[in-house]
Amino acid sequence: MATKYHNLFNTIEIGKLRIPNRLAVAPMTRVSAGLDGRVGPLMEEYYEGFAHGGFGLIITEGLYTDRLYSQGYKYQPGMTCHDHAQSWKPIITRVHKQGARIYAQLMHAGALSQYNPYANQNAGPSMVRPQGRQMPFYYGEGPYPMPEAMTQRDIAMVVKGFAQAARLAQLAGFDGVEIHGANGYLLDQFLTTYTNKRKDCYGGVLTNRLRIYKETLKSVRAAVGKDFVVGVRFSQKKVNDTNYIWPEGEAGAAEVFELMKQCGADYIHTTEPKIDNPAFENSNSLASLARKYSTLPVIANGGITDPKLAAQVLKNNEADIISLGKTALANQDWPNTIKRNQTPKNFTFDMLSPHATLECARDYFQRKS
Ligand SMILES: Cc1cc2nc3c(=O)[nH]c(=O)nc-3n(C[C@H](O)[C@H](O)[C@H](O)COP(=O)(O)O)c2cc1C
Repeated sequence: MATKYHNLFNTIEIGKLRIPNRLAVAPMTRVSAGLDGRVGPLMEEYYEGFAHGGFGLIITEGLYTDRLYSQGYKYQPGMTCHDHAQSWKPIITRVHKQGARIYAQLMHAGALSQYNPYANQNAGPSMVRPQGRQMPFYYGEGPYPMPEAMTQRDIAMVVKGFAQAARLAQLAGFDGVEIHGANGYLLDQFLTTYTNKRKDCYGGVLTNRLRIYKETLKSVRAAVGKDFVVGVRFSQKKVNDTNYIWPEGEAGAAEVFELMKQCGADYIHTTEPKIDNPAFENSNSLASLARKYSTLPVIANGGITDPKLAAQVLKNNEADIISLGKTALANQDWPNTIKRNQTPKNFTFDMLSPHATLECARDYFQRKS
């Protein structure tokens, strides 16, 4: 049966690599690795499930990048050593066998860390206690602790950590890496005015607040060479603040996205609560601003349940790929379901309760079957 939404199933190239369709799994932390940061068999099945269900691209959950301040969660996977990298090989092989691509998301939690055996304290751009409370579904509780302010040496180590992690991911066989610059984690803490009170060249005007992105992207690119896919994720909202809007408006967005292109990014991934909402008053969506100012391929994310909206965003040239988070958790086979003109299932947070683990999701689906 021919699908109504055929443009979701066209191929596309990012960098030198062909992706079989326009449907990606958004990065989702599942706190299901070992305490040592290595991944195991349950995660093989999980990631293969999306590829088997027709997703052309999978972006992994955020992997911590160093053994200093980067780890955010207990049972979060890492990408800090050969053993971490090797543990992903069976997943990569199984995803590739289904014809899909897989990028590793590299993440530094900074002041939002809820668990880190490598440091006694959290660290971020400045001594500003994060808003909100730690997330229980990632084993956190209570307010976030006060972080210490990173020195310039700490920042240099962050940048080095991203570059080393990217190289390890490349050696493991990933098709690309995505630098997590969104959702309130370390890079976004530098970009955000109220968490960055620095007086040095990493604080103040937007160009300075973007310096850590520039340095990270450039050193990742130097570590992996010109042909390996490197992307960056951006959002205005954060896991602990759903109201933030970039204070420089569209002019600021232009500076952000132009810089990413100059620094050698292959794509931008944007996330907003709703994919097609105007990013600012009288402006277009964040995805379409990313596309306009970077001229790079854009992956857009946010609140997709309806294939019609996904197809519309592509048709309007607002993005090149659509990524799905919660809808993909409820429907690992969403692309195949849509292709067959069937109705997907609804997501519920019961799937991530009490923890966002694969075990809790498995129990949920067993209860329902
Ligand atoms: C359980 C869960 C874990 C997430 N973990 C990450 C993550 O590791 N990295 C990231 O960039 N975004 C993460 N996100 C955000 C998603 O990638 C996505 O942006 C968000 O769920 C909104 O998209 P959706 O409406 O399609 O779910 C997570 C979301 C969920 C639900």
